[in-house]
Amino acid sequence: MRISEVFLHGGDYNPEQWLKRKEILARDIEYFKKAGINTVSMGMFSWSMLEPAEGQYDFSWLEERVEALYANGISTILSTPSGARPKWLADAYPEVLRVRSDRGRNLFGGRHNHCYHSPVYREKVGQINEALAKAFGQRKSVRLWHISNEYGGECHCPLCQEKFRDWLRQKYGDIERLNDAWNTIFWSHRYTDFAQVESPSEYGEDMLHGLSLDWKRFVTDSTLDFMKAEVAAIRKYSDKPVTTNLMYDYKGLDYKRFRDVCDIVSWDNYPAWHKGRVCDTALDSGFFHDWIRSIKQEPFLLMESSPSATNWQPVSKLKRPGILRAQSFQAIAHGSDSVLYFQLRKSLGASEKFHGAVIDHYGGEDTRVFREVCEVGRLLEEIGEACGSRVEGEAAILYDRENEWAMQQAQGPRNIGLHYKEQLLKHYRGLKSLGLNVDVISTEHDLEGYRLLVLPMAYMFPQGFAEKLESYVRKGGTLVLGYWSGIVDENDLCYLYGTPHGLEEVLGLRSMEIDALYEGEENRVYGEGFLKKEGYRCSHLCDLVKPLGAEVLLRYAADFYRDYPALCRNSYKEGRAFYLCTDMEEDFYPDFYSWLNEAYGLYDGKPLPLGIEINRRRTKTCEYLFVQSFREEDFDFEAGEGYRLVYGEAEKPLAYLNCRLYRKSLP
Ligand code: GLA
Ligand code: ZN
Repeated sequence: MRISEVFLHGGDYNPEQWLKRKEILARDIEYFKKAGINTVSMGMFSWSMLEPAEGQYDFSWLEERVEALYANGISTILSTPSGARPKWLADAYPEVLRVRSDRGRNLFGGRHNHCYHSPVYREKVGQINEALAKAFGQRKSVRLWHISNEYGGECHCPLCQEKFRDWLRQKYGDIERLNDAWNTIFWSHRYTDFAQVESPSEYGEDMLHGLSLDWKRFVTDSTLDFMKAEVAAIRKYSDKPVTTNLMYDYKGLDYKRFRDVCDIVSWDNYPAWHKGRVCDTALDSGFFHDWIRSIKQEPFLLMESSPSATNWQPVSKLKRPGILRAQSFQAIAHGSDSVLYFQLRKSLGASEKFHGAVIDHYGGEDTRVFREVCEVGRLLEEIGEACGSRVEGEAAILYDRENEWAMQQAQGPRNIGLHYKEQLLKHYRGLKSLGLNVDVISTEHDLEGYRLLVLPMAYMFPQGFAEKLESYVRKGGTLVLGYWSGIVDENDLCYLYGTPHGLEEVLGLRSMEIDALYEGEENRVYGEGFLKKEGYRCSHLCDLVKPLGAEVLLRYAADFYRDYPALCRNSYKEGRAFYLCTDMEEDFYPDFYSWLNEAYGLYDGKPLPLGIEINRRRTKTCEYLFVQSFREEDFDFEAGEGYRLVYGEAEKPLAYLNCRLYRKSLP
């Protein structure tokens, strides 16, 4: 959904830390206006200031700030304070504190330290949310509800154990069905009653894959249920949209399931620029923007990013000049309707006092960071017409949390590292080299409409997924399936009668064995005049397949499986399916996708080198073409007919960190 006419610019602001220094609060507003800041997020960690003692609310300071900011053209994203509780609450109701997997209860402190099922915690959160909604929920000054802050973690308290057992009863009905689903007969772990089940723990059972998987699903459900309760309290007095800020590649929750509870999806992105090559960081950051956008397939919000150093990273590197603008432009290009920071003003003490901020301890506006923030403010104004437009995915790549959970706990074939994320990013790079908008989808997404569908290491095929893929190819789709796919079902039980499960005809082959290579060990593949290079190196995993009709395009060059297939192609009904048997070196992917694209005429456009990014956003009447460079070498770029430059350096070629926006009317 679209929540504003203009791009939001601003970020997390904690005026409660400065109430004793009024002059600072007044100066902040002046600075915000200079930097084109139109939005602040407040309240996420303010509970002890909003309810200093149980049942005694004091919202006066917040009301005063919200309206003072609004009088200066700055709206508020208002957070519910459930992320961190006041001391009085933990003292009066110690059961709200979280229990670890060793069954010990935490002390008061930190954040994310509460039981999602605790009735009293839910009651206290509900009461303050309701009171906040009543006080702020109708105000023009408040734009959006920011529910809690970065939900995460899990609780193993006795109540959560009970809730987990109820959840399992609901799911399986009969304990024998659970035993079958988890294959508990292995190592004599059969249950005779749901009451015997315990959450997984390194001090007890953590090798029963079905149990661990269901526990993770339960944790997601519990978190969602908690969030729904928070929203229900807000809804008593306010119908403003809600979001919650998600995290970069957070493994503890299955974010696709937040689709329905969020009116708009938002996330916090802290790329580690200059850790390695800038173009690699950009690729990774782009991938996760796409992953977040694809949850709802609508514009999203960049809720947090650092204007400079990020103090929780191992090295607090300063952002090099120009990086902030490039990072912000990239977020917008991938579908964000905001550039928001953590934080607007650096706090005086505690764990974030050295985290990058728009306003430093020094307090003046004559800083490099402040100037760069002002530049982002101008950028967002100049490209403002693109706000609310949509990124439509032209190709899709699968990155499903349940699949990854299952694969990571599998014990084999490579416990030292499956290199899954690298494999994903290699394919993603290949797709982006075609200049495409790429959706990063789950097994639940609709597949129709993508001309190209890429599934690297799709280990888990939930029920019906093979049929979904068959229908996709049958109707004319182009599928690229990677090794280690279609191995287990949604309970993490291995498929019998051949893998990749259910696709023997579609792929024209069957996988027989998979070889794992030691770190540093390599094989090579060869093929006749097929791709640009003579051959490519490959490593980590080598699938040995038996062709059953598929055409072999590349073969292994060494080992006992020399001459076995390494890449196969099969025509199936209206479409075609490729099966890639091994983890190829980086260069293979852009070569492969550009060959494939030409062979089937899927998309227009010339191949792009690594570090040149193209994304498109559309409205009904026009297309916005975002072009930027994260590459040291210049690049000649021609936008083509009908495109008018809206923002950026017109001179050719495109240089390092250049950003350009073009517009084209649609017929
Ligand atoms: C997270 C949190 C913020 C802050 C930042 C610091 O994203 O949501 O409250 O702690 O990290 O980078
Ligand atoms: Zn609990």
